[in-house]
Amino acid sequence: MSQPTTGLGIDIGGSGIKGAPVDLDSGEFLRERLKILTPDESGSEPVSEIVARICDHFPEAAGGPVGITFPGVVQNGTVHSAANLDKSWVGTDARALFTQAVGRPVRVLNDADAAALAETRYGAAKGVHGTVLMTTLGTGIGTALVVAGRLVPNTEFGHLEIDGHDAESRASSGAKERDGLSYPEWANERLQRYYRVIEDLVWPDLIVVGGGVSRKAHKFLPLLDIRTPIVPAALRNTAGIVGAALAAAQALEMP
Ligand code: BGC
Repeated sequence: MSQPTTGLGIDIGGSGIKGAPVDLDSGEFLRERLKILTPDESGSEPVSEIVARICDHFPEAAGGPVGITFPGVVQNGTVHSAANLDKSWVGTDARALFTQAVGRPVRVLNDADAAALAETRYGAAKGVHGTVLMTTLGTGIGTALVVAGRLVPNTEFGHLEIDGHDAESRASSGAKERDGLSYPEWANERLQRYYRVIEDLVWPDLIVVGGGVSRKAHKFLPLLDIRTPIVPAALRNTAGIVGAALAAAQALEMP
């Protein structure tokens, strides 16, 4: 069996749950994505109902692979952290839960890891040798490490303790909004420190910056004074969905 050429990707975030069928040759959506707001009660039951609704919305993807991202550590389908979602997720077998909700096997992985898989295959990290660090700036900070094209899953460098703070509580785009910072203030006072610390710990060859705010990358990336080349994600906000679909398809791949 070769790798399927289409797949359904679903991206669970703190503010929205989004899905679309993906063309895995091009990394593009086959149809406009569906976004449903994440309910205030963001525990497993309401979230899995929304995941099932998104699946039903795309009958053309029925029978194909389904990949689902989660904004926390996911090991072998089980959630181990949920910084920006209901804490009751911790310890949940999300793979079993979603498989039951949608009626077919699913692959569940960390949201930043999914974005990095997509950027590696189709985007800003395509063809890059060496070590790529992906950071997604959103409600939190997601990170993913890709070494010689292979993902090292579940890095959590958004939670580095820097100057006595959880890094994402100061440097995420959520923190920028919360504290009413301009782009220069955010870049100079928060991102500069974050990226300096992380480049000294990881020594990546390239840093890719994703998350919704990467659309405005020209307003903050040029202000950063760091040694590592740093570029905006090419897929922007679609990377999570595309990477989820890709990961699910790869899991089905057989020799
Ligand atoms: C979580 C990560 C996640 C990131 C972005 C962080 O708070 O710990 O696992 O990738 O937020 O959603």
